Amino acid sequence: MDSISWRLKRTYKCGELRSKDAGKEVILNGWVHSIRKVGRVIFILLRDRSGIVQVVVTPKSQAFPAAKELDREFVIAVKGEVRLRPKNQVNPDMPTGEIEVAAHEIEVLNESKPLPLPIWDESLMSTTSEANRLRYRYLDLRREKVKNNILLRAKVVKAMRDFYTSKGFIEVETPYLGRSTPEGARDFLVPSRLHPRKFYALTQSPQLFKQLLMVAGLEKYFQVARCFRDEDPRADRQPEFTQFDMEISFVTREDVMSVVEESMKYVFREVLNIDLPTPFPRFTYEEAIERFGTDKPDLRFPSELHTLLEDGRLYLRYFKMKGLGKMCGTLQSKLKEAAKNFSLKGYGFRAVDLGSKECSEAMGVLPEDVKGVELEEGEGVVFAYGDFATASQFLGVLRNALGREAGIVKRNQYSFVWVTDFPLFEVDEETGRLISKHHPFTSPRPEDIPLLDKEPLKVKALSYDLVLNGYEVAGGSIRIHKRWLQEKMFSLMGLSKEEMIDRYGFLLEALEFGAPPHGGIAFGLDRLVAVMAGEDSIRDVIAFPKNKEMADPMTGSPAEAPPEYLKDLTWLKLT
Ligand code: AMO
Repeated sequence: MDSISWRLKRTYKCGELRSKDAGKEVILNGWVHSIRKVGRVIFILLRDRSGIVQVVVTPKSQAFPAAKELDREFVIAVKGEVRLRPKNQVNPDMPTGEIEVAAHEIEVLNESKPLPLPIWDESLMSTTSEANRLRYRYLDLRREKVKNNILLRAKVVKAMRDFYTSKGFIEVETPYLGRSTPEGARDFLVPSRLHPRKFYALTQSPQLFKQLLMVAGLEKYFQVARCFRDEDPRADRQPEFTQFDMEISFVTREDVMSVVEESMKYVFREVLNIDLPTPFPRFTYEEAIERFGTDKPDLRFPSELHTLLEDGRLYLRYFKMKGLGKMCGTLQSKLKEAAKNFSLKGYGFRAVDLGSKECSEAMGVLPEDVKGVELEEGEGVVFAYGDFATASQFLGVLRNALGREAGIVKRNQYSFVWVTDFPLFEVDEETGRLISKHHPFTSPRPEDIPLLDKEPLKVKALSYDLVLNGYEVAGGSIRIHKRWLQEKMFSLMGLSKEEMIDRYGFLLEALEFGAPPHGGIAFGLDRLVAVMAGEDSIRDVIAFPKNKEMADPMTGSPAEAPPEYLKDLTWLKLT
């Protein structure tokens, strides 16, 4: 009968063996990564988390009968002797490539059916559907690349914890079953069994709890917090994601930004052995839009936006970029695709390839205008014609996207930027009401307070976003710590006194019991790790992500609730 007991417990890990270990008797436990026969000799690549080592089984070995029966992904124990490989068989691409293990004994700990995913072949994996990868995510996670992302993530979290702990921050957990905090997304609601017709909201962020911890006098807090937002997933967005969240009392904006810079310097040194230059460049929101067309500028490439012509309310703006000369074939389709999302009067491009071959296209922009910018070989220019904001934002989208494809970015190049002073409010397109651009607990700049009543859209916030290679990896602000100002904020957003008290009474009350000045930030941990790993999607750095339909094809979530649960929630059916 198939036994569950086993004998050969490992004494070494596969990936740690080196030439200095030659002559040692070792026991290894792991998975059969691949198996091949050369003549009558069997070569097994044995894999565990630490890496891969070659195991050799000759027909004379006692292990030979067992080795003959092995297949990919069987879980085995191997007892054998480490020995140097013959010179002509050394594999310089493998950390363990100078040695191999001559097996004396093999114990099969478990068999494996043929895998539904070709995890041993990266080129086959690249054509495997994401649905299948997620359905068998535990197999997908066996791949070196995916496993390394998860290990990288663990290192980043550890480095963050170490850094903030060493600076006197304490880790505090706050509730997930909470009440709606407005971070701009829809809440996930959880019906309450004991309180008919009432719901918990899964917290969109620990924002209000961390502020209350400051009122409580904890002074420096952090948390690795799961956040839940019912919004459609995108490459950089998941319905549940992780923030590295922190808050500090008695600080100015400078203080928060400087500790964040120090923490990033520490994490990049510890995890990637990279020395980040600090301080990070800073732009106000207005400057960022004017110079880069976006509040998430990718500064790995220096191109800036300029204005060529201005007539009344219309602007002809452009940016030049190296590397676009080679992209003649795709520029037209990329511009056309991007233009669908903007109401522009016109747009166009011109690019000069090596050998001075030129290409250009102008839609609603006069061709002679497009000739007005001088180009060197290999460069290109992209134009947009429209109102200032629309033309700038269109160029901002293309600048970030084309820059990534133009072959001008070095590998392992990391470019942090601060974007500060966001407008405190924006106008909700549907309701025409003021809504907060960050969240309603963000403090206005003190000098802008007189504008709150007269020209609220001109008020700037004491806020700061941290952008890395064009992705917003953290966002925070100095908070409102006076009740009158918090009430003012709510009333400008159209909340009645009753609504304020009902939804935020606890906060308003707390602000009257000695709330200190405070501020903080939250890192989107998934995004930070994805950029560090060079991945385009945060799904690649999350062990068990949701797919684009917000579902988990492996466990089958979401699923219908078992009837016995629904019995307790009869009220839910009535509503
Ligand atoms: P904010 O909403 O900007 O701020 O979130 C902070 C950071 O979290 C990341 N992020 C996400 N990552 C993956 N999927 C999502 N759906 C998602 N939404 C946000 C981003 C973002 O920069 N309470 C405030 C923080 C504060 O003021 O301290 C907040 O939640 O990287």
